[in-house]
Amino acid sequence: MINPFVSLLAKIDQVVRHMHETPFPSSRPCDTSFFASPECRSAGAFRGAAASSRPQQARARARIQRPRHRDMLSFLQAWSNNPRRVGAIAPSGTALARLITAEITPDCGGVLELGPGTGVFTRALLARGIPPGNLTLVEKGADFADLLRRRFPDVRVFQMDATRLDRSRLFDGRPAGAVVSGLPLLAMTPRQVLAILTGAFAVLRQGGAFYQFTYGPRCPVPKRILDRLDLKAVRLGRVYLNLPPAAVYRITRKSPAKEGGR
Ligand SMILES: C[S@@+](CC[C@H](N)C(=O)[O-])C[C@H]1O[C@@H](n2cnc3c(N)ncnc32)[C@H](O)[C@@H]1O
Repeated sequence: MINPFVSLLAKIDQVVRHMHETPFPSSRPCDTSFFASPECRSAGAFRGAAASSRPQQARARARIQRPRHRDMLSFLQAWSNNPRRVGAIAPSGTALARLITAEITPDCGGVLELGPGTGVFTRALLARGIPPGNLTLVEKGADFADLLRRRFPDVRVFQMDATRLDRSRLFDGRPAGAVVSGLPLLAMTPRQVLAILTGAFAVLRQGGAFYQFTYGPRCPVPKRILDRLDLKAVRLGRVYLNLPPAAVYRITRKSPAKEGGR
């Protein structure tokens, strides 16, 4: 059932989009055909004149803004259907995306992203030069998985539960260099967190790192799980320009000896 709050937001989004897309919202009829004509373009006439470019600018602005509107709505809708799985009412901001991907370079090799949602971190990873073929996304929600497949056609997307990671399936048996996680670990049971970390470190090669963000005041992986898996967590920073503010942790193996052969 669609939450009335979400239908209201969808209605607002529809109205905002209509406003962006309606050229010249004035009651006075106006013939703009000349401004789109080849004569006008070849003469460079009225270049920069507000009258001719306003509809195009409005449409271009709408095209840029639309995904953000849509992402907000997709998130709210997914959250209202399953708040525990989604764990946030809005996608992460670009500042958080920059921090969580800051140490990842194309030299890392395979990169696994867990809980990508609408793909804010995916976009940041691609912007950092990670080839789409080296990126694998694991998303539990069918809604987000479909959106990610449409949005990033060259990236592998698995619609599956991150507690069931399987190295042979994810990178054809090859190890990954980094894992970026947007999973809502604080909403999960310790057993689920243990399964995710165990699976992720089975996929990660020697020296590979697991990056996780949290809205909480400390690392979202309990100390007893870190100790049990011989892992350590280091806080990389906090982003105040995120709603809500979030911190990023890098989790790595404590002792190289435990990395044996991976
Ligand atoms: C807090 S959102 C983060 C989305 C995105 N990374 C961002 O920062 O905007 C959590 C995401 O994890 C996904 N998720 C939750 N539990 C999962 C699980 N067990 N396996 C895979 N994905 C999961 C949700 O569907 C959602 O896309």
